[in-house]
Amino acid sequence: MTITSEPSQRTARVGRQTRFIREDWDAGIFRVHRDAFRSQEVFDREREQIWGRGWLYLGHTTELPTPGDYKVRKLGGRPLIFLRDAKGVIRAFYNSCPHRGTAVCREEEGNARHLRCFYHAWTFDTEGKLVTLPSPDAYPGDDTFRDRLGLRPVAQLETFRDFVFVSFDEGAPPLRDYLGPAAEYLELVADQSAVGMRVLPGTQRYTARANWKLLVENAMDGYHFAPSHITFLEYLKRTGMTTSDEGSWVTLCDNHLVSVQPNHGGRIGLAWEPRFGEAEKERIEQNRAEIIGRLGEERGTFLADGFKTLHFFPNLLLFDIESISIRMLEPVAPDLTEVTAWALAPVDEPPEASGLRLRTLVSFIGPGGLATPDDLEAQEAIQRAVAATAGDQREGVDWNDVSRGMDDELEGRPLRANDEAGVRHFWRNWDEAVNGAGLGAGNGAGNGAGNGEA
Ligand code: FES
Repeated sequence: MTITSEPSQRTARVGRQTRFIREDWDAGIFRVHRDAFRSQEVFDREREQIWGRGWLYLGHTTELPTPGDYKVRKLGGRPLIFLRDAKGVIRAFYNSCPHRGTAVCREEEGNARHLRCFYHAWTFDTEGKLVTLPSPDAYPGDDTFRDRLGLRPVAQLETFRDFVFVSFDEGAPPLRDYLGPAAEYLELVADQSAVGMRVLPGTQRYTARANWKLLVENAMDGYHFAPSHITFLEYLKRTGMTTSDEGSWVTLCDNHLVSVQPNHGGRIGLAWEPRFGEAEKERIEQNRAEIIGRLGEERGTFLADGFKTLHFFPNLLLFDIESISIRMLEPVAPDLTEVTAWALAPVDEPPEASGLRLRTLVSFIGPGGLATPDDLEAQEAIQRAVAATAGDQREGVDWNDVSRGMDDELEGRPLRANDEAGVRHFWRNWDEAVNGAGLGAGNGAGNGAGNGEA
């Protein structure tokens, strides 16, 4: 598999005019209607069309190292059991008893040989089969009722390089097709170690009083970085590091999106920078050389030195930057999103190196870092303020503007991360999906957007 290590260029110029999007290439206008952030009707439609039909990130196989390990998760409002069965197979069941509906797993996580529902004591093995229950002979017929009363698995579960995704739609395309060219970037994350990557112990959990799409916009938007994160930039300067978004670009991967800062350097375990400390220098430089030797000069250098922020539509953000963070989004209401995040590291990384990784991660990303609180403030301030224009029908008033850099798209120049090309790409995909046209139809790099009416 080869990486798409070039920015995308959009060549077609078909405007989109729907209930939520106004795209006018002649006028250089791309607008998003603010109902997209505040409407319960839109939220319900997203649950049905996006969370109900696409592939959703559930977790990483290394979170369940031992047979019987399980975690309780929630995707699109549906409580799930994420589990490794007694034979080592990764599974996902609805966390709702097939008897009368109670939650079967009431602990957040654990290890179990059997899962026992507390209400009437039905007990399931880790493959979901109903194995024991009080008074089984009270059920009519022979024992076959057990076969139809096991835990309900989700419609589809697939794993790609240890990243586990589920779909609630039996008709969803195979995961690999859904990931499209974005799979190559997931490969790059997985290839950072010759012996595999694992989720480090510990979870970040917080809520944003903001619509989930504001969190996606923020992650894929290089434009806000310098004005919003002044404190972080000053910290970098004090520690001998300089950073710039110059030269960074985006690549459009069907439904998904990757923002790349090439030649950044300064990655834990891959490329050293002064703030990591002299003691780490030799180990990090050795790791970088190993990666380039294993993957070749072009792919290895792109992996080791390029920062990447990835959005896998809809609920997975991967920050493949100084450290690697997996961030999962769960919309709770139009104005409320739960965020769960983990750090990813090579399986064989020494504890002191993982410690540095975690310290660096939390100093930037996370509810106590130097970046995420800035971002949360922006997202929540938007959510509070978009109510201001609700119902004002005048042209352009109740709309957000996302038109920066449209001239680059119009002229077919490479798409830059500082422009809003990635944000526009997300909105085109979202608009297709929420209007029931399917995920990403006609939205790949180089394709024009559709123009269907809602
Ligand atoms: S609801 Fe689970 S055993 Fe009755």
